[in-house]
Amino acid sequence: MLIVEDIQALRAQIKTWRRAGETIAFVPTMGNLHDGHVALVKRAQELGSKVVASIFVNPTQFDRKEDLAAYPRTLTEDCQHLQAVGTDMVFTPTPTLMYPGGGLATRVEVPGISQLLEGASRPGHFTGVSTVVCKLFNLVQPDVAVFGEKDFQQLMLIRQMVRDLDMDIEIVGLPTVREADGLAMSSRNGYLTVEERKIAPAFNRILREVVDALHKGRQDYPPLQAEAMKSLELQGFRPDYVEIRRVSDLLPPEDGKEALVVLGSAWLGKARLIDNIPLKD
Ligand code: PAF
Repeated sequence: MLIVEDIQALRAQIKTWRRAGETIAFVPTMGNLHDGHVALVKRAQELGSKVVASIFVNPTQFDRKEDLAAYPRTLTEDCQHLQAVGTDMVFTPTPTLMYPGGGLATRVEVPGISQLLEGASRPGHFTGVSTVVCKLFNLVQPDVAVFGEKDFQQLMLIRQMVRDLDMDIEIVGLPTVREADGLAMSSRNGYLTVEERKIAPAFNRILREVVDALHKGRQDYPPLQAEAMKSLELQGFRPDYVEIRRVSDLLPPEDGKEALVVLGSAWLGKARLIDNIPLKD
């Protein structure tokens, strides 16, 4: 596996592959890789003849400085994981390389979707995400890029950006990979204490109870959301939101016929967990 830190080497390799007729599948990450990331790489291998991953802890998408400082950086282990699963190249830029002079004058904004839910709780977060992903897409120039559905809103934001800016990149979403007890895999799970880790699966269970209630025909969304928030509190979480939204645009449903997704965010100790469950029908 090639480990590339600078832009010239990245571009030269991509050009060589392109000339040889290879197709490029891209998996952008912030490192601290888990089985969810491995699943993304494996899917990427089915979609392109060469797989490029990136590891970059993007400072502009952190709304709190402590979170950025504390974010786990495990580059050596991450590269070992990527190599073991057969990644062809990993791009590991430094913050200075991505943000020369400390920042960029240009930003990529996707208003609307970026202001809801996660965006409302974490101002500026999605501008950081769309800008860095746009930059990574320009650097790697992939045919296809693979993202996890755990960050459901992020996936929608990227799809919107790609559509709006006519980027010639197929965006593929992959269902959330979970621990055996239902907890969505996340780098932030590492912040949980042993006790909190035992409580954490209740988050997904409570979201599933909302899904079950919807399947049984309940349509009183605000009380249902409030009940879930209360259940989370009783379990020891500090819930941020539990929302039943339309899959199409993440706005509240209107006529009861739309495809829905239940999304939630809750603090447990130092970890801010997010999860979602799209309804099957
Ligand atoms: O999902 C992530 O890990 C990050 O938000 C991403 C897409 C790599 C952008 O920094």
